[in-house]
Amino acid sequence: MLIRNTDRDWNHRLGSEITPAALYHGRRDWMRQVAAGAAGLGLAAWAARDARAQMGTARPGKLSALPAVGSKVAGAVTMEKLTSYQDASTYNNFFEFGTDKADPARNSGRFQTSPWSVSVEGLVKQPRTFALEDLLKLSAQEERTYRLRCVEGWSMVIPWIGYSLAELLKRVEPLGSAKFVEFVTAADSKTMPFVGSGVLEWPYVEGLRLDEAMHPLTLLSFGMYGEILPKQNGAPVRLVVPWKYGFKSSKSLVKIRLTETEPRTAWVKSAPQEYGFYSNVNPQVDHPRWSQASERRIGEDGLFAKKRKTLMFNGYEAQVAQMYAGMDLKKFY
Ligand code: MTE
Repeated sequence: MLIRNTDRDWNHRLGSEITPAALYHGRRDWMRQVAAGAAGLGLAAWAARDARAQMGTARPGKLSALPAVGSKVAGAVTMEKLTSYQDASTYNNFFEFGTDKADPARNSGRFQTSPWSVSVEGLVKQPRTFALEDLLKLSAQEERTYRLRCVEGWSMVIPWIGYSLAELLKRVEPLGSAKFVEFVTAADSKTMPFVGSGVLEWPYVEGLRLDEAMHPLTLLSFGMYGEILPKQNGAPVRLVVPWKYGFKSSKSLVKIRLTETEPRTAWVKSAPQEYGFYSNVNPQVDHPRWSQASERRIGEDGLFAKKRKTLMFNGYEAQVAQMYAGMDLKKFY
């Protein structure tokens, strides 16, 4: 069942009912080790907390803190009210754990996120497997508040923590023949109860064009609301692609592969007429079964809550539209 809560009446007891603190002890120890190597963590965490206090958003204070130093990326800042942590971590799509929005928080307890590594391979000069600890240290983390807009017509505003995926891709030196990037995610049937079910083909695979993957707004994210990601939100590392429908933002990444041809994504395999490869948020292109012109902001619902008009490219038009100049966005939906 969806547990609703407002920012004001957030309390720790409710949070720990959803994801028992004991589940995180191992990860806490590990994060402490990682943190020990990260200079200035205390100050950065304090700065993030201070920024959040100014925004009037309670910090859950449950998982380990991640450093955040404010955003350097133009267009990454929104003044919209943040979705509560409670909603962002209990109303999720993560089909490896079930199809109900409450399933990922409920069913992800046994999923192991440490040790973890991500291999970056395919058409690159320097293929390499990065341990999570190395990924965390690869670049300074920033807090970026992005809208995530789901194809089902709801949206959230979440302060993600991470850095541009481009920072990682540059290290492996893409070859001239690389045109696309495939993202492969974890598929462990022992700890992910729906892996093996007929919901989708597993593992969950997504993809971007190389220029989209290199765009500074495309975030490799390790945390949200100042803390490491909860499992249901894609721990320990996920993508956030804010101008596309939420399903492009692959969770729990294990492999990033650069390719010459367009990757066959899980959704294109299962329902190509409904979920295209591009999936740019576009109020003018209806989903075959519903309009995409408006959206419901999670936390603002209720019988009389007004829907919001959906913005082209989810409001990031100024930053990303030029990548699609000359393309028929009805055809390449
Ligand atoms: N990643 C994996 N591995 N498996 C999934 O089922 N669901 C996608 C995306 N990433 C999904 C995934 C969908 S449909 C959405 S809307 C977003 O994650 C939801 O992210 P959130 O739960 O953090 O809001």
